[in-house]
Amino acid sequence: MLTHSRSDFPDGFLFGTATSAYQIEGHAFGGAGQTHWDSFAATPGNVVRGEDGARACDHYHRYEEDLDLIAAAGFDAYRFSTSWARVMPDGETVNPEGLDFYDRLTDAMLARGLKPMATLYHWELPQTLADIGGWRNRETPARFADFASVIMGRIGDRMHSVAPINEPWCVGYLSHFLGEHAPGMRDIRATARAMHHVLVAHGMATEVMRGLGMQNLGAVFNFEWATPSDNTPEAVEAAARYDAIYNRFFLDGVFKGTYPRRVLEAFEPHLPTGWQDDFALIGQRLDWCGLNYYTRKVIAPDPGPWPALKEVEGPLPKTQMGWEIYPQGLHDFLVRTAEDYTGDLPLYVTENGCASAEPFEDTDRIAYLDAHLSAVREAIAKGVPLSGYVVWSLMDNYEWAKGYEMRFGLVHVDFETLQRTPKASYRALKAALA
Ligand code: FCB
Repeated sequence: MLTHSRSDFPDGFLFGTATSAYQIEGHAFGGAGQTHWDSFAATPGNVVRGEDGARACDHYHRYEEDLDLIAAAGFDAYRFSTSWARVMPDGETVNPEGLDFYDRLTDAMLARGLKPMATLYHWELPQTLADIGGWRNRETPARFADFASVIMGRIGDRMHSVAPINEPWCVGYLSHFLGEHAPGMRDIRATARAMHHVLVAHGMATEVMRGLGMQNLGAVFNFEWATPSDNTPEAVEAAARYDAIYNRFFLDGVFKGTYPRRVLEAFEPHLPTGWQDDFALIGQRLDWCGLNYYTRKVIAPDPGPWPALKEVEGPLPKTQMGWEIYPQGLHDFLVRTAEDYTGDLPLYVTENGCASAEPFEDTDRIAYLDAHLSAVREAIAKGVPLSGYVVWSLMDNYEWAKGYEMRFGLVHVDFETLQRTPKASYRALKAALA
């Protein structure tokens, strides 16, 4: 049981659950084009068991059943994403089947009273664009603006809210500096350019959607609290550097028209010429801001080149991912984001949840959600203008480099039979939302 219920939250507060296209749809279906996740997964050592999203949860064919599950739990909203490579398999040419799919999906949400919260890009870059340098190439943001125009030209009239990019840190740093996600690079110049271009893409897509007359446009960032490993000035500085790279870079770019000094000291020679001129585009007005939050990291200094830090194991209980459970971080980020960046702008928790090895009786997930909902309520009580909370994820799915091993779902998926079975956490939320 959860100790919270809908009546503990402000009137109109939205509860939702989230997925993303490549993680659930089944990329082999409906004429979708190859993506950089397919080639990344086909490279040995990148993904657990070399798994990819070819079939995933077969949501492409089973979306009605999946939406039924969301509606039956009492959720108000569904945060989904639109696959660029499904709509434009070569990054340019429109696949009518892809557009038709998102059109059907949208109407099926509305028919069930679910508010569509769309994300345009949740990481499956068309391979043809990866071949010309992907996010390193400024051409990619321009193509992305075309994609925004095509997909929202079709379904934009029925969206509750839209964010162009899911988690710029993952698109930029995790994928080009740490090499853990597609395209699996480890290069500081590639990283600086990808991190800048992804914000340019955010800006261009936002402009295009405003041009279509759309409302309620936002952005979705992921945050990890950085705790210094001890009180030494070196550890405090290392944690501040982690915070600058992970959390502040994108917020500073969008809301302050600059990048943090601790990142610029390493990135400046690598950013594209004229990068300062892009902030008018990057920083245009938004209607809301989304926070994805899972965990914190304990950070220690580490001799060597920038960023000269390392993650060390923390003492707190961990989820199946090995991530420490630290609800305080969600509260602190909500308060800090409002204070330092967004003021009165409505905030949403656009992702929060945990992986659990427990297939059906996932009491650990119930405890995780309960503790994070407490943190959310505390932030609301302090006056943070939070408008909704979205659980990651509706169902077990393709967890990127972890393949199908890490299970984040409120609903269990048997990846042989594709049968869906609600877990205890699903029932607990349903009771809380009734
Ligand atoms: C987030 C991603 C989402 C999922 C969760 C666990 O960073 O947005 O796709 O992988 O983590």
